[in-house]
Amino acid sequence: MSFGSMPLGNGFRHNDDKSEEFCYLMETAVCSECSTFQLVDQPSPNQMFHGEYAFFSGTSERMKQHFLEFYNQVKKEISQTDPFVIEIGCNDGILIKHFAKNGIQHLGIDPSANVVKRAKENGINTIESFFSTKTANHILEKYRKSDVILAANVICHIPTINDIALGISHLLSKNGIFVFEEPYLGDVLEKITYDQIYDEHTFLFSVHSISEIFKRAGLEIFRVEHQWTHGGSMRYWLSHKGSRSIEESVGYFLNKEDQLAMNKIETYKTFKKSCENHKYKFLDLLQNIRKEGKRIVGYGATSKSTTILNYCGIGNDLIEFIADTTPIKHGKVTPGTAIPIRPHKEFSMDYPDYAILFAYNHATEIMNKEEDFIKSGGKWITYVPEVQIL
Ligand code: TYD
Repeated sequence: MSFGSMPLGNGFRHNDDKSEEFCYLMETAVCSECSTFQLVDQPSPNQMFHGEYAFFSGTSERMKQHFLEFYNQVKKEISQTDPFVIEIGCNDGILIKHFAKNGIQHLGIDPSANVVKRAKENGINTIESFFSTKTANHILEKYRKSDVILAANVICHIPTINDIALGISHLLSKNGIFVFEEPYLGDVLEKITYDQIYDEHTFLFSVHSISEIFKRAGLEIFRVEHQWTHGGSMRYWLSHKGSRSIEESVGYFLNKEDQLAMNKIETYKTFKKSCENHKYKFLDLLQNIRKEGKRIVGYGATSKSTTILNYCGIGNDLIEFIADTTPIKHGKVTPGTAIPIRPHKEFSMDYPDYAILFAYNHATEIMNKEEDFIKSGGKWITYVPEVQIL
């Protein structure tokens, strides 16, 4: 399936940047062996993750709470007296900081210099690196085997997935656990959240695909848990084959995926049609509102919205600006569509008639704190699970 020419999801540019914008053809395919949904072509990692990487994990209160709960759950599973915890793609340390604070030996790994700097400022032992078998060997030389390896919204970013699986298997102690969470393909298909498809998401996983991929490295899933994050994610718990008993949740989701026909090509043909219908409905709604002379502003300059805006052909003629709390995005414009990104206070200074909830994954948090927008007569527009004015 092709989504056409696409800029980088996090490729926010200074508004006076006149250089040619990097774009690639965003096409997807499903692996006939492991049923992993994936990008056909992907920009190089250095283009996507660099010293000005615009994504900081610690921006949402609900996400902070989510990662605290993640920490508490993992901690309950640790039986070793002196555990060593590693997080792949630790970003600014939103998860691993809890292990650090509690005196647990830990190591964060992240390839982006600016987020590593922030993690170090947060007191986290961090190395600036992509994860690979080579990194795993380096860690083994300098430290020891890890009892817990964690990752959140990271593994789906790494094209060398088989090497990653081997590296993790090599680094994981005999009774260790590898726990990670990622946007879930089942949610993408059910809610038509094709905005989960962008350059950084090489893969969208299912329980079937994770099981197949990690089986090759001697690891198996013993538990899965569905999460609300990122519009629907799955947390996968893995261990060396045979070291844990496999819990009911694994069979439950494998069955559910069979029922959804997630390994059948027809499912993806239907998905393609649904994406096209969604696009026309969304564009139609925004154009009609603008014809009435009403103002539309966006809320949350997410990476996901890059796909929506570019695929639907929505630009600064329809959306005045996007309000966002991330300072590094202020004064920049959205990739490919040049919609200005402004500090959040500009939203509340002069409420628009409509605000599109691009950060719909934080809907509860945002709508709670923006009650005054509704009181001013403003209305939210969402496009998940369907295009509608709330
Ligand atoms: P995020 O959920 O990380 O989505 P993606 O992975 O697609 O980038 O991004 C949320 C964005 O929304 C981020 O730029 C911060 C912004 N945001 C706000 O502006 N206000 C808020 O209250 C919240 C929770 C997020």
